[in-house]
Order: sequence, then C-alpha cells, then structure tokens
Amino acid sequence: MAIKNISITGAAGNIAYSLIFRILSNLPFKATDKINLRLLDIPESQKSLEGLKFEIEDCAFDSLNDLVTTDNTELAFSDADYILMVGAKPRSKGMERSDLILDNAHIFKSQAETINDVCSKKTNIIVVGNPANTNALIINQNTPNIPNTNITSLMKLDHNRAKSILATKLNEKVEDIEKIVIWGNHSTTQVPDLYNCKVSTKNINLDHSWIHETFIPRVQKRGGEIIEFRGLSSAASAASAIYDHINVLENGSADWQALGVLSSGEYNITPDIMFSFPVVAHGGSYNIKDDVNIHQSLSESLKVTEEELIKEREIVKKYLP
Ligand code: NAD
Ligand code: LMR
Repeated sequence: MAIKNISITGAAGNIAYSLIFRILSNLPFKATDKINLRLLDIPESQKSLEGLKFEIEDCAFDSLNDLVTTDNTELAFSDADYILMVGAKPRSKGMERSDLILDNAHIFKSQAETINDVCSKKTNIIVVGNPANTNALIINQNTPNIPNTNITSLMKLDHNRAKSILATKLNEKVEDIEKIVIWGNHSTTQVPDLYNCKVSTKNINLDHSWIHETFIPRVQKRGGEIIEFRGLSSAASAASAIYDHINVLENGSADWQALGVLSSGEYNITPDIMFSFPVVAHGGSYNIKDDVNIHQSLSESLKVTEEELIKEREIVKKYLP
C-alpha cells in the first residue's frame, strides 16, 4: 500500500477547514492509497484542532491512515511528502496582502529552518500564507537542502478566477478555455493575460478596453472583493485552488498553469524573486514555458509587479540568509 505524509500548517484556520475534507474525499496524489495527515497550529489553537480531529474521525475516511495534531513543527514536518503552508495571519478590510509581510515573515523563517533540518529532497512545499510569493522566497532561501523546484506559491486561485470570469463573459465552458497566464505577484499588481488565450482551440477576439478596464482589475481585486462581501478572506476557493495546484504538480496538465516559482531570469525578470510564470506540468515535474509572447500593452504592468516583489524582498531581507 502506498502512503504519503501530508503536513498542513494553520490547520485550525478557515482554509484548512475546507482543504482537509476536500483532500481526504478524493486524494489528488498520484499512486497513493492513503495519507498520514499532520496538522500543525499554534498552542492556543490546540483545543480547536482537537475538535477538528474529532470531525475528521467522524467522517471515517478510507483515505486516512493516521492523524496527528500538534504545535511541534519538527513532528509535523518530519518525512513530509508535502507541506501545505497555510498558517499565517489573513488580511482584513482595507489592507493589502503586503501589509501582512512583517507579521508573517518570522513564521516562514523559523518553519524553513525546521524543514531544512527534518525534510528530504523529495518534500514538496506549497506556500499559501500571504504575502505568498515573498513568504515562499523566505522558505526557498532558508532551505538549501530542498530543491528550488519543490517550492511553489499558490497562484492557482488567480488562474481559476481569471478562467471563470472569462467563461462568464464569453458564455463558454471553463474547460474549453486554455492558455491564460497570470504573471507576477499574488497581489493587486498581478498581470492576468488573455492575449494567448484560446477557447476550444480557437483564438478569441476580445475588446482591448474590456481586458484592461474590466477583466484585469476584476481578477487583481477579487481577493479584496471577497473580504468586502464575506467579511473574511477567501477560504473555500483558496482550498479548492490548493487542491488543483497539488493535482497539477502530481498529475500534470494539458493546459498552461500558474505557479509562483523562483525566477532565474526568464522573460528578463529579476532572478531570486518568486514570480508567477506560465508553466507546463508533466506530472512529477514542470517547466516554465519560456516562449510566450507578451503583448506590448502588458509590458509596463509586468515591470510594476516585478518591482513590487523586489520591494517585498527588500523588506524581508533580515529573514533571508
Ligand atoms: P485563518 O486566520 O482562518 O487561519 C490561519 C491559521 O494559521 C490560524 O489557525 C492560526 O492559528 C494559524 N497560525 C498562525 N501562526 C501559525 C504558526 N506559526 N504555525 C502554524 N499555524 C499558525 O486564515 P485563513 O483564512 O486560513 O488564511 C491563511 C493564510 O492564507 C492567510 O495569510 C491568507 O491571507 C492566505 N491566503 C492565501 C491565498 C492565496 O491564494 N495565496 C488565498 C487565500 C488566503
Ligand atoms: C485571496 O486572493 O483571496 C487571498 O489572497 C486573500 C486575500 O487577502 O485577498
């Protein structure tokens, strides 16, 4: 029987409350019969985590081999196949994700040090806690034992949002839409790009002003819109995107995908920032697609999102070796 060890941080929080049940209902991991689940949260959340454990047990999932709840990062991360790094403070109304930077950076620095000590080169790490890309950079730079390609940040929520908004606009099915790109940061500077997009393999002809005045700002500000309406940041849709992200890494994808990955200078983007590029995933590995045409109307915006990530890197420099 094939068993994988899956660790989730921030396990007593809102995203985890949806994510855990989604994963256990239908494992996204290739060739895996069951999982050992390690749920990490801070000491103050242990009682709530215990209640969550009861609920998980009450589901009698076939897919669950073993369940541990803990506030001990070493216990949570040892021998992990995946670490889903959700644990961090979310923003509230009126904040930008980057306002969380100094509240959350220390969490990722100290957890990175444990990961580096107790994990192996096969551990896959997905960073969700905001600002996700810069937190992922902190993880990357403080885990020299983990290959760069094993560390990604969540951009799939933005990709899903873009696909859904376009499907509604064109009255098409989401599954017929492909080749949407999300460039840059998981923030309001991200650049959702429809200029290579196809529907049922055909080019689409969209009004330039709809793209720039409606589509792009809508995707960029969707997280804030959810907070405005729900009073809380997105949780179920974020969990669903994490599930999709795992699926892409494990099983590959026919479509281009959006992952935050370490830049090595692709598309002349500054190296050593975590940047969302178009990615082709094969199931077990992925490559940045390096030949996508960038429409001239987007090139200035790409610089803005790159600059923002460079600025965030500067702010967290004391957390980088
Ligand atoms: P939440 O407040 O409901 O839960 C966060 C949990 O993390 C809490 O249980 C808290 O106790 C825990 N936590 C805090 N510090 C911790 C630590 N050091 N170790 C382990 N656990 C710790 O928040 P949420 O709605 O679940 O969101 C979590 C994070 O995900 C936020 O930063 C949010 O902004 C971010 N987010 C990212 C995306 C994305 O697309 N990248 C989408 C949605 C939310
Ligand atoms: C989102 O995109 O919904 C999350 O990053 C939460 C937020 O702060 O917007």
